[in-house]
Amino acid sequence: MKVTVKVPATTANLGPGFDCLGLALPIYNEITVEETVMPGSGVEINIIDENNDMDTLSIPLDENNIVYKAIELLYNFVGQSASDMKITIKTQIPVTRGLGSSASVIVGGLMAANKLLGSPADDAVLLSIASEVEGHPDNVAPAIFGGFCVASIEEDGSVSYSKIDWPENWKLTVLIPDYELDTKIARSILPETISVADAAYNIRKASMIIDSVYRKDADMMKKSLKDKLHQPYRAELIKGFTELTQLLENKDDILGCVISGAGPTILVISVNDGFEKVEDEVKQIFVDYNVNCDIRTLNIENEGSKII
Ligand code: HSE
Repeated sequence: MKVTVKVPATTANLGPGFDCLGLALPIYNEITVEETVMPGSGVEINIIDENNDMDTLSIPLDENNIVYKAIELLYNFVGQSASDMKITIKTQIPVTRGLGSSASVIVGGLMAANKLLGSPADDAVLLSIASEVEGHPDNVAPAIFGGFCVASIEEDGSVSYSKIDWPENWKLTVLIPDYELDTKIARSILPETISVADAAYNIRKASMIIDSVYRKDADMMKKSLKDKLHQPYRAELIKGFTELTQLLENKDDILGCVISGAGPTILVISVNDGFEKVEDEVKQIFVDYNVNCDIRTLNIENEGSKII
């Protein structure tokens, strides 16, 4: 028996909501988990890289693969040992770009294995295991549930989450550059501590984002997409981010631009066709940096992961 799960890409943080806010995008990976009939055949992992943009040689294809590690935790949860299996990962989500590719494969592997086991784990368990493997829940929650999610890992390892309706005419433009940025590096440059003033700034802005989305208040959203916790430190790693922020600051129908997850993709949120009006100026910034950028304007993905 085999099960395939289709999982969306995600963009995390939305500026001030570090490790907490995220939303799903209509770009997908498909993860298939298959019971192997030959006992003792071990774990077989195959990657079909549909974008041809992955350094597949650097990805472990054995028990050290994160998909297998997540599945092992699920087996442990149900009191079993992980058996021999074949895992196939078909990828369309660009990797190491801040679009939740690792969260997507963890979620896909877990959901497929759970189905093969007869669905012993509910969504809360899958969310908690996936967040433990990923280290934070901001990509994992929207990858599972779709839409715009607020998620928090609690002290006991459980994850609280909430999904809030995203305004239909708020469009999401992802600017995906042709270079990669390892999340570990993008996290390692963050300071160990920040000032109370900066923490208070972020609490204000993240709270305002949730309220703006809930009330569909574009004016408030425009004041909210600002951060003092990670973006000021990461900006130097993300070509064009500072210039883009300045360019878009006072443009009509642009709500803001933020680093997507740990970067280097940048997310621009606009109202209706707001992005089209600035697209040429945006492209010029990347031309000046000699960076090829895949620019896609998308609607939010509201369904989340699905067994197909
Ligand atoms: N919240 C995470 C970060 C997302 O910004 O490091 C990347 O996985």
